This record gives sequence, C-alpha cells and structure tokens, in this order.
Amino acid sequence: MLTSTVDSSTVTTTAPAFDWCTALEHAILAPSSHNTQPWRFRVREGGVDLFIDRTRRLPVADPDDRELTMSCGAALLHLRLALRVSGVESVVTLLPDSTNSDFLARVERGNATVPSDEDCQLVDAIPYRHTNRQQYTGRSLPAGVTRRLLDAACTEGAWLLPVGGNRREAVIDLIAEAGRRQWADRAFRRELAHWIRPHRANDGLPGYAFGLGPLIVRTFDMGVNQARREHDLAAEAPVLAVLGTLEDNPLAWLEAGQAVARVLLTATMHSIACAFHNQPMQVSELRPQVMSALGTSGYPQLLLRMGYAPETHAAPRRPVHEVLVN
Ligand SMILES: Cc1cc2nc3c(=O)[nH]c(=O)nc-3n(C[C@H](O)[C@H](O)[C@H](O)COP(=O)(O)O)c2cc1C
Repeated sequence: MLTSTVDSSTVTTTAPAFDWCTALEHAILAPSSHNTQPWRFRVREGGVDLFIDRTRRLPVADPDDRELTMSCGAALLHLRLALRVSGVESVVTLLPDSTNSDFLARVERGNATVPSDEDCQLVDAIPYRHTNRQQYTGRSLPAGVTRRLLDAACTEGAWLLPVGGNRREAVIDLIAEAGRRQWADRAFRRELAHWIRPHRANDGLPGYAFGLGPLIVRTFDMGVNQARREHDLAAEAPVLAVLGTLEDNPLAWLEAGQAVARVLLTATMHSIACAFHNQPMQVSELRPQVMSALGTSGYPQLLLRMGYAPETHAAPRRPVHEVLVN
C-alpha cells in the first residue's frame, strides 16, 4: 500500500541546500525496541530511502516485526522534522515498493518551507528525549499538556488514550501478567540477555538502564519480582496511556512509530518523562484483553507511562556511517 504525505505549511519556491547527514544524525536518536536501531538509510540524489534491518529483529518478543517497524517509523519522524527545520519540505512515500517489504519509506526533498515554532522546539528536544525508567512523582500533568500529547498522536494518524479508573487497574494487571509469562519463557530471557550490553557498546540496553546483567537475566526467572516492580511503576505514574491505530499492518505500524516519536518529543518539550510498558501487547494472547479492557475499537500498539522524574542517561547509538546502505 502506498501513502504519500507532504509536510507543508508556508511553502516558498526554492529549497535551500541541505545536508542529509545532519538530518540522519537526528534520525538515529529515535527510540527503538531494546535499542536495536533496526534502520538503514540510502542517501540518493534529492532524498533518502529508509529500510528495516531484519538482522536486528526480536523473534520472541516481536515475532511479526511490529515493534521493529514502529522503531523505523520513529526514525522517520525525526528525519522529517529535521528536514522541516532546515527549511525543506519532505515528500514521504510509505512502503514504496510492493516487491520489497524491507523498503519502508522514500523521503524526497520538496519545496522550501518555513518551519513553525513547534517544529523547531520538537527538533531541539531530540537530543534530550530519553526513555526514563525511574519511578515518577505523583505530580499530575497539566490538562493543556495532556491535550497536546493526544493531538501529537492524532497528527500522525494514531490515537493516544489515557487509561483511567477500573480500566487502568485492568491494564496494570495485564502488564504484570504479561511480564510473568515472558520471564517464564527461557527463549524470551535469552533474547533479552543478548541485547543487554556492557558500557562501551553502541546499541542494546546498557546494563545501568536495565538494572540486571545478562547472566542473571538468562539464568533466572525473575518474573514475580519484575512483574511487581512494573506493576508498581505503572500504578504510581500520573498518566498511563495506550497508543493505538485503526489497522494492524506495516503501514499502521509506521504511523504508530511516527506518532509515538512525536508524542515523546512533545513530552520532552514539557519536561515530561516517559517509559514503555508494552508487555501485554507483546504476549499475543493478552493483546485482545487490552482491547477489551480499553473498551474501544482499534489496535493497541504501545503502552506509555508519563510523569515527572529526575533526568536520566542517554542510551548509546551506532554512528550514521554504520547505518548507511552503499
Ligand atoms: C517500539 C518500541 C518499543 C519499546 N518497548 C520498550 C519496552 O517494552 N520496555 C522498555 O523499557 N523500553 C521500551 N522501548 C524503549 C527502548 O528500550 C529505548 O528507546 C532504547 O533503549 C533507546 O533508549 P532511548 O529511548 O533512551 O534513546 C521501546 C521503544 C520503542 C520505539
């Protein structure tokens, strides 16, 4: 399926000279599941092609490459924003080649444009956006900020639904239940351990971020403790919200990835910390239960906790030259 979008606001005539590598420096700071950074970029005359790198897939936690595709979608949003802020409109075609499912997007340089203040603030937020897995304070989010977060998801064709009341209890119980099931699975633990890295690596989850070393993760089923911890972190957060889409296919996953990236950058602009609790969507038998707990139609893709917390570290990245296709 093909979708072309033009990022347009005030359009003038000739686009300024543009350095694609600077835009890619922003793209690679996107979040990705287990920090796999599953993207490859091909720089061409007048544009960049985005490919998914399935050698970095997570066959146990993400057998359909749903989260892998969302991670690439997040990188795409960073790329689009970086282009706009440098004064260039982007013309994006999603899934441009029906014979190559790894080819996720073609980004072409459009006309010159004048970026909005919000575009500039979102790009300024890119280096400061980090997944913050610490405990959040009980301080509520201002209503106006919550509204902007919901709008950010809608702008990219997804929805963000804050979960409250009884529904929230049900969703938090599903986080804990999914965590217990995943940890009981040796293949899941092996895969997770494989992506926990020593300090010097430039991908994967740094040991300090995850809090457990690979040997422990591989060897012991810590499901009960981990599930309790995830349950408590989610229960204490002022906002728990599900990001979802109307469809459940690669195109929708690309939209969800762009949407979550815009939500996270909007949150960063407002000094709001975010972390992911997607476990109930990763366990296929539990995903329909999230849908019924929410009482809404559509497909839940990601579960976010939002609130206020002390600053956290940046996770490492592979440099741009390592993610370029010749
Ligand atoms: C699609 C997607 C799924 C993710 N799922 C989880 C998750 O289940 N648990 C978690 O702690 N972090 C999750 N993350 C966050 C990544 O681990 C994080 O982005 C990565 O480690 C890089 O760190 P950074 O976000 O601080 O740059 C997810 C990120 C994405 C984009």
